[in-house]
Amino acid sequence: MAVSSILYILLLLSLSFRCSSSSSLNSGFSLSVEKPEDVILSQNGVFSAGFYLVGENAYVFSVWFTQNRTVIWTANRDQPVNGKRSSLSLLKTGNLVLSDAGQFNVWSTGTVSSLPTHLVLNNNGNLVLYENPIRGSKILWQSFDFPTDTLLPGQQLTRFTKLVSGRSETNQSSGFYRFLFDDNNILSLLYDGPDVSSKYWPSPWLLSWEAGRSTYNSSRIAVLDSIGGFSSTDKYNFTTSDYGALIQRRLKLDPDGNIRVYSLQNNLWKVTWQAISDSCIVHGICGANSTCIYDPKEGRKCLCLPGYRVKNHSDWSYGCEPKFQLSCDKNESTFFKLFDVELYGYDVVYVKNITFNDCKDDCLNDCDCKAFQYTMDQQGLFQCFTKRVMLNGHHSPSFEGATYLRLPRSLSSNVLFREEEEPTQENGNVCPVKLERAYTKRHVSSFVKFFLWFAVSIGVVEVLLIFTIWCSLITKQNSSRNQQGYNFLSPFGFKRFTYSELKQATKGFTEEIGRGSGGIVYKGVLGDQRIAAIKKLNNNIVGAKQEEGEFLAEVSIIGRLNHMNLIEMWGYCAEGKHRLLVYEYMGKGSLAENLKSNTLDWTKRYNIALGTARGLAYLHEECLEWILHCDIKPHNILLDSNYQPKVADFGLSKLQNRNDQNSKNFSVIRGTRGYMAPEWLFNLPVTSKVDVYSYGIVVLEMITGRSPTRMGTGTDEDEGANNGRLLTWVREKRKKTTSCSWVEQILDAAIVSEYGVEKRKMETLAKVAMECVEEDRDARPTMSQVVEMLQSQEDDAC
Ligand SMILES: *[C@@H]1O[C@H](CO)[C@@H](O)[C@H](O)[C@H]1NC(C)=O
Ligand SMILES: *[C@@H]1O[C@H](CO)[C@@H](O)[C@H](O)[C@H]1NC(C)=O
Ligand SMILES: *[C@@H]1O[C@H](CO)[C@@H](O)[C@H](O)[C@H]1NC(C)=O
Ligand SMILES: *[C@@H]1O[C@H](CO)[C@@H](O)[C@H](O)[C@H]1NC(C)=O
Repeated sequence: MAVSSILYILLLLSLSFRCSSSSSLNSGFSLSVEKPEDVILSQNGVFSAGFYLVGENAYVFSVWFTQNRTVIWTANRDQPVNGKRSSLSLLKTGNLVLSDAGQFNVWSTGTVSSLPTHLVLNNNGNLVLYENPIRGSKILWQSFDFPTDTLLPGQQLTRFTKLVSGRSETNQSSGFYRFLFDDNNILSLLYDGPDVSSKYWPSPWLLSWEAGRSTYNSSRIAVLDSIGGFSSTDKYNFTTSDYGALIQRRLKLDPDGNIRVYSLQNNLWKVTWQAISDSCIVHGICGANSTCIYDPKEGRKCLCLPGYRVKNHSDWSYGCEPKFQLSCDKNESTFFKLFDVELYGYDVVYVKNITFNDCKDDCLNDCDCKAFQYTMDQQGLFQCFTKRVMLNGHHSPSFEGATYLRLPRSLSSNVLFREEEEPTQENGNVCPVKLERAYTKRHVSSFVKFFLWFAVSIGVVEVLLIFTIWCSLITKQNSSRNQQGYNFLSPFGFKRFTYSELKQATKGFTEEIGRGSGGIVYKGVLGDQRIAAIKKLNNNIVGAKQEEGEFLAEVSIIGRLNHMNLIEMWGYCAEGKHRLLVYEYMGKGSLAENLKSNTLDWTKRYNIALGTARGLAYLHEECLEWILHCDIKPHNILLDSNYQPKVADFGLSKLQNRNDQNSKNFSVIRGTRGYMAPEWLFNLPVTSKVDVYSYGIVVLEMITGRSPTRMGTGTDEDEGANNGRLLTWVREKRKKTTSCSWVEQILDAAIVSEYGVEKRKMETLAKVAMECVEEDRDARPTMSQVVEMLQSQEDDAC
C-alpha cells in the first residue's frame, strides 16, 4: 500500500514537472528562481521563459531561444533579483508579479481579472497572459507589447513601443540607444546619453524625403516578416540577404547603437542585414573628447584627442578627460590642427564667409571654447563652428575641412602625443558586478516548522492532483490553438505517397507537362485537391541498385529545403522500382515557355534573374548540406502567378550521385548542352561555379532572347562550340562598342521599346552575366555575390 501510494505521488510529481516545464503557468502558481526546471516552454520548443543568470547571484526573468539561450525579452532588465526565494507568481487576482527575495516586487503586469488566468509562451516567442483560457482567449497582457532590445518576426514596433539597447554585450541593462518612431513619424535611431541626446539615423542632415522616408503616414507601425522582409509605415523597407528562407530571425538594437537582423544558420546567428555600415556614425559611441576611426576590415577604433586620456578603459562611453588645465588667457592658448576630424553637432557659434583668423578669435574670446571647425561650403565660402563640448568625433576622409583643438601653449609635445590608448574592444566589456541585496532570514521555531511542513505536504498532494488535471486540459487547449499557428514546414507536411495514389492523381500518367534529364513530369490532382507536378524518375537515373533507404535519406534532405525561390516538394513515392517526386504545380509554366511566347518585360526578367540567384545562393551556401544543381536552364526555372521564379529539379544531382561514381559518362547525364560550364568538357573538378556559369547563360538568354542551343545553323559537333555561339556573339558586340551601349545592341529586339525605364538594371544584369560566364571558374562570382550585385545595382554598371 505504502509503496504504491509513494509511486502514485512520484507519478504525479513527474507529471507536474512535465507540466511546469512544458506549457503554462496558471493563476495561483509561481516559478521559483531556485528551481532551474521552472521554465515555461513554447509548444514547438523553440522558446523558453524563466529565470536567467546575469551576474553573481543576480537573475532576470527572460524569454530566450531554447537552443542557444539567446535572450529576446526581459521583464526586469534594470533590476535583477536575488538567487534565493525570488519568484514569478501569477496571482489569483490576475496580476503577474516578479518578487525579489520574497520581499519586494520589482516588476508586475498590473493586470486584474476575476476569472482564472494563465501565462503561455506562444510558438512565435510571445509571452501571453490569457484570461479564462478554456472558453475564449482574451489577452490581458503580452510581452510583444513591451519589447526590450529585440523584435521577433511578426512583432510590431508601434508608436507606443521602442527598442532600448543593452549597456554592453555582457550587461543587458538599459543602454544609451533607442529605436523608435520620432515626432515626424520617421523610424529613427537615437542616442540618449547621460548628458545629451541626438538622432543619428537616418542621417540628421538629410531631409526625410532625401533619406527615402515619408512623414505622411502617422499610423507608425514597423514589422519584420517571417521570410526576412521589413516594412515600415514611413516607407523604409528592406530585405535580409537570406530573404525568402523560412528560418529563425531576430532584429536587435545592439549595444553599439546599430540595428541588425540575425538569422539562425547551423545553430549560429549570422548577421543578414544591418542599418549602419560605418559604425562611427553612431553618436556617443566613443564618448566625449575622442575620435572614432572606422575600417571595414578591422572595425571601429576609439582614440582620445591629443592631450586627453581615456577615463575608463573598459567602457569608452565615459570618453576622455583633459591632461591639462586651460586658462582663459588668450595668449596662453594655441591650436592644434586635426585633419579629417569632424565633431558633429553642438556648435556655439556658426558664421559664414569668415576668415580663419576671425574664426580663431571667436573661439579665443570665449573662455569655454574648446575647439573650432573651419570648413568650406559648396559655394566656396568658409564656415566657422566653435565648440564648447567635443562630441561625436569622427575621422572621415570625405570631410572637407579641419578641426582646431585648443590647448595650453605650455603643454609639452610629449604630453600631447603619448599614446596611452589601447585599441577599443568593439563592445566595451564590463565585468559582472556582484549584486548587493540584503535579505533577512526569518527565525522560525522547530514546532512551527514541523506543522508547516505537515500542512504543506497535504496541500502539495491536493494541489498536484488539481494541477495535473488542469494541465491536461490546458495542453489540449494549446494543441488545438497551435494547429492554427504558423508551421515551419508545409502545412500538409512532407508525405509518402503510394504508387496507386499517384497513378490515380495523374489519371494513369496521361497529362505530361515536362520532360527532363531525370524523368517525365505529369500534372496531377492529389486526394486533398491540391494540383501537383509529379515527376517519375527514369530508372537509369535512380537505378534499381539504389536502396530505398538511401533514396529516402536524399529525398528528405530535398524535402527540408525551404525557400521562396525553390520549388516546394510535397512528398515522394518509393515502391518497388518506382521512384516518384511530388512538387507544387506552377501555373505560369517555365521560363523557357515564357521566353518563347514573349510574355516577360524587362522588369519581370530582372526580378526572375534576382529570384533565381537567391534560390541558388540558398542551395549553395545556406542549406544544411551543400547542394549543386548542375542543370540550370530556363526549363528548370518555373514561374508562379506573380512571375516569381522558383528553381526546380534541384537535388537530383544528389540522387544520381551514388550511381555515377563508377560511371564513365559522368558528365553526359549532368547538365544540358548550351548551358554547361567548360569544366565538364575538360574533366576539371566540379564546384558550385558550374551553376554560376549556367546561370550566366540563362541570364544572357533572357537579355538577348536568343537560345544558346538554337544559335546559328547548329552543326552539333561538340558542346563547347555550341555554348560558344551565343557567348562569342555577345563578347564580339561588347568588344566593338564602347561604353554601355553594347548592352542595347544585344537586347531582345521584341521588347526593346520599353527599355528606357529599366536601362540601369539591364546594364547591371548584363555585366553580372558576363562575369558569371568567365571561362576561368575562379573569376566567376559566387551566387550570393551575384545576389548582392543585383540588389545593390551599382552606379557604374558597365
Ligand atoms: C568603468 O566602467 C565600468 C562598467 O560600466 C564600471 O563598473 C566602473 O566602475 C568604471 N570605472 C570607473 C573608474 O569609472
Ligand atoms: C572633455 O574635456 C573637457 C575639457 O576640454 C572637460 O571639461 C570635460 O569634462 C571632458 N568630458 C568628459 C566626459 O570627461
Ligand atoms: C564675403 O565676405 C567678403 C569680405 O567681407 C565680401 O566682400 C563678400 O561679398 C562676401 N561674400 C558673400 C557671398 O557674402
Ligand atoms: C550593468 O550596467 C549598469 C549601468 O551601467 C550598472 O549599474 C550595473 O551594475 C551593470 N550590471 C552588471 C551585472 O554588470
